[in-house]
Amino acid sequence: MLTLNDIHTYYGDSYILQGVSLQVNPGEVVCLLGRNGAGKTTTIRSIIGFSPPRAGKIIFNTREITRLPAHRIARAGIGLVPQGRGVFPTLTVRENLLLAARNPASFDSRSGRGWDLNAVYAQLPRLREREHHHGNELSGGEQQMLAIGRALMTNPELLLMDEPTEGLAPLIVREIARLLLELKRKKQSILLVEQSLPLALELADRIYVMSKGRIVFEGSPRALFENEDVKKQYLGF
Ligand SMILES: Nc1ncnc2c1ncn2[C@@H]1O[C@H](COP(=O)(O)OP(=O)(O)OP(=O)(O)O)[C@@H](O)[C@H]1O
Ligand SMILES: [Mg+2]
Repeated sequence: MLTLNDIHTYYGDSYILQGVSLQVNPGEVVCLLGRNGAGKTTTIRSIIGFSPPRAGKIIFNTREITRLPAHRIARAGIGLVPQGRGVFPTLTVRENLLLAARNPASFDSRSGRGWDLNAVYAQLPRLREREHHHGNELSGGEQQMLAIGRALMTNPELLLMDEPTEGLAPLIVREIARLLLELKRKKQSILLVEQSLPLALELADRIYVMSKGRIVFEGSPRALFENEDVKKQYLGF
């Protein structure tokens, strides 16, 4: 479904992604792990078109999206939950969600996919309770839920999530983990950037580990769990 083939991404003269290749298959939850500054967000930005790679190819389904403008990549079916959430502070929860709504026709009764306001509220009841509050009146956890709800409202074929549990209290992390497990059960394809190894081990079908702009490990959660070298050297466990 998504293939990154040897991509090289720069910020100005800084050479950040130095040949990243990875793949997400339909219905898979793939985790991308790595320390601060490893290049995880840059990988996400490369996919979504905010920082297009200078070399290499990105293929989504059968189409090359490498240097398409971001809005066209989004419209092709890729949803983003950005690091730092980015909810609109002066709009209400409901307005934030409705502004994102897209592709209601993609409702699939078999998979149960097809997100609208009610479906999002059913999964994230806190958002319904806070429906008429503004983005800037929400707690960090609620903002994160809203960012996820907004991405779901676009009914993405592939969901990119950049550290959705960052900086949240354990109770909220569990709530978000529960939602992620539910999305996995529904066979939502997800590329999830995480710092939490336990969460990645619990959720992922496959895991990539990055360091200094390169992929240094690819394998099953079990293979990573058993690989003391990779855990120590690249993840600090
Ligand atoms: N706008 C920018 N201009 C120049 N360098 C940048 C810019 N954004 C990030 N970098 C650098 O690129 C490298 C990769 O950053 P990136 O944000 O992709 O890391 P990350 O793995 O997402 O880290 P974190 O876990 O802290 O979010 C870092 O060395 C960072 O300092
Ligand atoms: Mg990041």
